Amino acid sequence: MKKILHVISSLNGQNSYSLALGNKIVEQLKESYPESTIVEKKLVAEDFPHLTEDRWQAIITPEENRTAAQKENIAIQDEAIKELFDADILVVGAPLYNFGIPSQLKAWIDHLAKAGETFKYTEEGPQGLVTGKKVYIAMSSGGVYSENPGYDFVSDYLIKVFGFLGMTDVELIRVEGVAIPELRENALNKAEKEFAEILA
Ligand SMILES: Cc1cc2nc3c(=O)[nH]c(=O)nc-3n(C[C@H](O)[C@H](O)[C@H](O)COP(=O)(O)O)c2cc1C
Repeated sequence: MKKILHVISSLNGQNSYSLALGNKIVEQLKESYPESTIVEKKLVAEDFPHLTEDRWQAIITPEENRTAAQKENIAIQDEAIKELFDADILVVGAPLYNFGIPSQLKAWIDHLAKAGETFKYTEEGPQGLVTGKKVYIAMSSGGVYSENPGYDFVSDYLIKVFGFLGMTDVELIRVEGVAIPELRENALNKAEKEFAEILA
């Protein structure tokens, strides 16, 4: 039994490739770990907010000095960090939009990276505090970047930022080439097979 956090960040609703792959990963994890629980974090559908000036000021204000509005403003960060620590496994849907991750996914990461909670600075450098997690990234892209990552600013960024927070056990699976007619049909199938091999 595992606690799975499925992060969804596509603009494409039920037609999303990263969602389809993420769902497949979750389904197979449930077979491997019966009775697992799933929390779905729908960053786009539920309009996860960006770090605004107000929210950042609330974050850096000592707890005892926060106004009622600031306390309310900061609750979203507390909840996101709690969901992260609660999870054993993260399945992160990561569409490639304009060469990077969706801005809501970036906003979620901006809320998670909190010094003293999810990472800390030591004499040896920064140290991630979110350890013992497995992360599967379900990446999707119109083009093919696996062989020539030039304009893929998704995979390297996510692997590094999760690693920075302490999540170093990361597998990235790609549904790629969905904008290329000859590749589209088989793209999801190929990614699902790749994941099945990883799980085996
Ligand atoms: C706003 C937007 C920007 C995109 N930018 C790129 C891009 O820069 N490179 C690319 O290969 N595909 C790009 N695509 C195609 C997506 O990567 C592709 O549709 C992928 O399936 C998106 O994931 P999703 O299906 O989970 O939403 C873009 C799509 C959208 C909607």
